[in-house]
Amino acid sequence: MDIKNLLNKSKDFYDIEMFDVLESTNSTLKSMAKSGEKEGKVIVAQRQTKGRGKMNREFFSPEGSGIYMSILLKPDIEIDKAVLLTAMTAVAVAETIENVSGVEAKIKWVNDIYCKGKKVCGILTESGLELYSKKVSYSVIGIGINLIEAETGFPSEISNIAGTVYERNEYKDESRAQIIAGILESIYNYYLEFSKGRYKEKYKSRSNLLGKEIIVTSGESIKKAIATNIDDDCRLVVKYDDGNQEALLSGDVSVKAV
Ligand code: BTN
Repeated sequence: MDIKNLLNKSKDFYDIEMFDVLESTNSTLKSMAKSGEKEGKVIVAQRQTKGRGKMNREFFSPEGSGIYMSILLKPDIEIDKAVLLTAMTAVAVAETIENVSGVEAKIKWVNDIYCKGKKVCGILTESGLELYSKKVSYSVIGIGINLIEAETGFPSEISNIAGTVYERNEYKDESRAQIIAGILESIYNYYLEFSKGRYKEKYKSRSNLLGKEIIVTSGESIKKAIATNIDDDCRLVVKYDDGNQEALLSGDVSVKAV
């Protein structure tokens, strides 16, 4: 199914290019961005040989079972606001998964989508920096979604946390294009009014951490806390056992529900 034909308002914004195999859609689109590619370029691959996640982890990207795509945006924002693009994308992905599949989708701060208690999607936003203005010169937003389980199953390192949106017998081939198009259309709509932050309340209301006891790991330090809020800059506000509060930045820590 042609993805472009499924788009509405965003049809003229996006230029979509499909590949059978790439090392990483983010890496390809980043080099295009550095060579002056226009905002709205989208790269989709059937599989990746070096799919990347946060903290240089590998993102398992086998053929025939997932969506691996990257979108190039050029927002007029300071670099420390780039995390908000991840939040906006997380809302667009979660809403689209639910609309197309009917499966409830939650957001685990900051960049993961969970269905049925398992991680089904990760988002990796990589931005270029204008040195003098401290503004973003480009942002590549990479989205990896496990639609169905690969024939070989998940690698053992991730088999406890990774899941899929669909069971194999529920999955229809057209769902892939519908989800890609739904995400693109939704991102376009939120991005048009990015400064209004319409996605922020939705991000919070889909959180699977708020109100929960969590473990905060930062370097050698491991502490228990309660996740109390996600603030306007998408920092996770936590309260530790000793009563101290902290607003966590996504790059500094990893958190998991107890
Ligand atoms: C994470 O789980 O930490 C983020 C995973 C992001 C994976 C996607 S797949 C498409 C794009 N290309 C990559 O190499 N990574 C992102």
